[in-house]
Amino acid sequence: MSSVAGEPAAPTVTNDYDDFAEAYAAETESNLLNGYYTRPAVLDLAGDVAGRRILDAGCGAGPLLEALRERGAIVSGFDASAKMLELAARRLGDGVPLVRADLAGPLPYPDDAFDDVVACLVLHYLEDWRAPLAELRRVLVPGGRLIVVVYHPFVYKLLYRDADYFGVTEFSEDYTFDGRPAVLTYWHRPLSAMTSAFTEAGFRIAVVSEPPAAPGAREMFPEVMEKIDNSPTGTFLSFLFFVLEAA
Ligand SMILES: C[S@@+](CC[C@H](N)C(=O)[O-])C[C@H]1O[C@@H](n2cnc3c(N)ncnc32)[C@H](O)[C@@H]1O
Repeated sequence: MSSVAGEPAAPTVTNDYDDFAEAYAAETESNLLNGYYTRPAVLDLAGDVAGRRILDAGCGAGPLLEALRERGAIVSGFDASAKMLELAARRLGDGVPLVRADLAGPLPYPDDAFDDVVACLVLHYLEDWRAPLAELRRVLVPGGRLIVVVYHPFVYKLLYRDADYFGVTEFSEDYTFDGRPAVLTYWHRPLSAMTSAFTEAGFRIAVVSEPPAAPGAREMFPEVMEKIDNSPTGTFLSFLFFVLEAA
């Protein structure tokens, strides 16, 4: 088994992934939002990763770690949820260092340890991005990349018409993962607050991406895709993707 090391973190999040780890992992393994949109887009943005040392921050059950490793990357991951890490260890087998750690606190890695960090669908759980981004910058080599995926701030305003777009606001959404109800609590912030946080933490914004669903999505999920075609945006818009370069 992969090693799951580190002192038990005291996560600052209200989202209890321990409670619905198996259900979340099963639901998102090959669904539209994760399997046919987020993960393919992250892998596209990452490009050729052969030989690169990559940290997955908030790695969950490890699907991205597995895909990056298949492409030749040397991968490590951390997560606040012990159950998600157990699933990742089961998936990845030997040789992938997995650590229980909180993105809101100090990270258990030396300076300049990684060529890339992926923070996929995790930063939006944190109110204050300053310390987390400083830590992610610290563990990256100069010139290294941070790939971020977060809840799209415009989608928040589309869904919550009365909300203050320019505020930093906590909001919760109900989900059903593999038949199991769950509540996730996010922090909305406007696009300008995201870009300021990135540049203040020492990152240069290299790419901002709003990708379409991956090829094959239309065949796999015809009804949902038709609904999306007929929606006000007429296209798939859910998350916002960044590639940042460590200055
Ligand atoms: C939406 S899942 C995404 C998992 C994975 N990145 C993926 O794309 O499949 C969010 C993950 O972030 C983890 N997480 C949430 N808050 C965290 C924090 N403060 N520090 C570390 N991990 C956190 C959760 O335990 C969960 O595994």
